[in-house]
Amino acid sequence: MKVFLAVLVILFVSENVQGQMFDTPGRLRKKCKVPARKVSDALVSSVKIDFFTQYLDHSDASHAKTFKQRYFVDEQYASAEKDVAFLFIDGESESSEDFIKSGEWVESAKKFNASLFLLEHRYFGKSIPTEDLSTENLKYLTVDQALADTANFIEGIKTQYKLAPDVKWIVFGCSYSGSLVAWFRQKYPDLTKGGVASSAPLVAKVNFADYHKVVYDDIRSSKNGNQTGEECISAVQKAFEQLNSKAQNKDGQLGLDNMFKLCDTITENNSAENLASLTDYLLYFFSGK
Ligand SMILES: *[C@@H]1O[C@H](CO)[C@@H](O)[C@H](O)[C@H]1NC(C)=O
Ligand SMILES: *[C@@H]1O[C@H](CO)[C@@H](O)[C@H](O)[C@H]1NC(C)=O
Ligand SMILES: *[C@@H]1O[C@H](CO)[C@@H](O)[C@H](O)[C@H]1NC(C)=O
Repeated sequence: MKVFLAVLVILFVSENVQGQMFDTPGRLRKKCKVPARKVSDALVSSVKIDFFTQYLDHSDASHAKTFKQRYFVDEQYASAEKDVAFLFIDGESESSEDFIKSGEWVESAKKFNASLFLLEHRYFGKSIPTEDLSTENLKYLTVDQALADTANFIEGIKTQYKLAPDVKWIVFGCSYSGSLVAWFRQKYPDLTKGGVASSAPLVAKVNFADYHKVVYDDIRSSKNGNQTGEECISAVQKAFEQLNSKAQNKDGQLGLDNMFKLCDTITENNSAENLASLTDYLLYFFSGK
């Protein structure tokens, strides 16, 4: 969405829920990836960024083509033996150093004296394997290739970092990347001792309303000052009803255009499509994604 002024959206939403937003499970994904707290500069220096020579097409036995896949490593918690290694299999976005600096898996690394690795997903960030993203070149963007990247990385990185011969690998992931963890354990069970798949969807489903049911239940059972979850739910529902009813006529549409300072307006262009985008965008504030 290139369309909106976020500040106005927030104003609109908070006005309608009469208070601060609740912490919903839908925002979990952001949380489990990027913790809110600041990390001191002292920690930054222990993180190294490097590139792993990866096969473009793992199903091609000649392995003729390769690309550079970015990874992050932090060995500050590792024991001298380097007998435990954690790998965060990243998902559908550019990897960030923040992901390896703190979070639940880093806490576990401290406890288990583990080396930390974070592997950027092919086709994201600095791990673009093809010269462009033409449809033809996107044919290597598959779950199987991503899983094979992970397997190849685990096997290939061992010598370079002088990990113990019997090093125990644990894989971590969240959301889609959590799904990769589960599938990785299934497809390459011998390469790891375990995996932590957080918020990992495993069943493909069209019209997946279940997710919003969880968001609904969570908001409903929350409290925010003197406002009950029930009140919040009904305020949110009312807001979306207002949105829909305004969208039914020209005056209302113009109101929405102005309220959200829309560039691609609902009154002109493709109003149904733009309204769907607007609704989806506003939904983010309650459900994350
Ligand atoms: C981690 O290292 C510390 C310090 O060397 C040691 O006391 C502790 O037992 C180690 N923990 C594990 C789980 O090996
Ligand atoms: C809830 O608290 C706010 C300020 O803390 C107050 O302005 C508001 O009137 C209260 N609402 C109810 C229903 O008590
Ligand atoms: C939307 O409509 C306006 C006015 O007709 C036009 O200038 C603009 O190019 C349209 N935008 C899109 C994305 O079609």
